[in-house]
Amino acid sequence: MTKMYIFLVILSFALHCSCNTIVPFIKACNLNDEDCLLTANMQIAYPYIADGIPEIGVPRMDPMNFENITMWAEQNNFRFMLPYLQIRGGRRCRVVEFRQLRDQSAIKLIVDCPMIGTGTYKFNGKMLIFDIDKEGDFRMQTNSMRTTITAKFEKVFINGKNYWKLLTYEFFSEPRESMNIDLAGLFSGDLEQVQPMMNVFNKDMTTIWQVGEPIENGIAKNVFNTLKIFFNRVPIDEFLQH
Ligand SMILES: *[C@@H]1O[C@H](CO)[C@@H](O)[C@H](O)[C@H]1NC(C)=O
Repeated sequence: MTKMYIFLVILSFALHCSCNTIVPFIKACNLNDEDCLLTANMQIAYPYIADGIPEIGVPRMDPMNFENITMWAEQNNFRFMLPYLQIRGGRRCRVVEFRQLRDQSAIKLIVDCPMIGTGTYKFNGKMLIFDIDKEGDFRMQTNSMRTTITAKFEKVFINGKNYWKLLTYEFFSEPRESMNIDLAGLFSGDLEQVQPMMNVFNKDMTTIWQVGEPIENGIAKNVFNTLKIFFNRVPIDEFLQH
């Protein structure tokens, strides 16, 4: 109950306070600037959503835990997978933009999040003439991962309030700062430095980031599902007020 209470107190404070300085990174919005209000109120709500709000069924999204993510499998020659992965950082996301796309029933959410992934990796395959079979600790870290989620929604009107029922989503994500990857016993360094290793596999830069794609898929799916539950319970009208 505590978290929901804090959330409501902060939200209602935000609604009644025209000073807009409760949280330093919250922008001051004009009353009619819906994009600004949505973004500012989402920034207030985001850390609470990330922590989970059990009272309304919103699951925790920081940390996120994943099992058996296959990052790369090539014609059965190679398999690179993460039996266990924990991602942290969601509660420190900065909401860059949250708005309704005018001509479609869709919203766009852009967040910049620090991201720390820890877990284990397994790597098996044949490289050159060597049979490789390694496992160890896995770590990835970046200070800023930008994720853009576009989600279609349907407006629902219940008991005098407007809700956004999220339906489907698309996403795009990329690291905005260097991404450090550490595969204990195999490799350690910046994403750029993975290139020589990947060149051995005859891969280009684009493919290197695709190695991380299954992780990003997992994160985006998790974020979408969480927001879907949240907006099922919290009327969007609350995001459109001071
Ligand atoms: C992950 O893989 C292991 C080993 O193959 C298996 O025992 C486990 O049930 C899998 N977990 C999930 C969630 O699929």
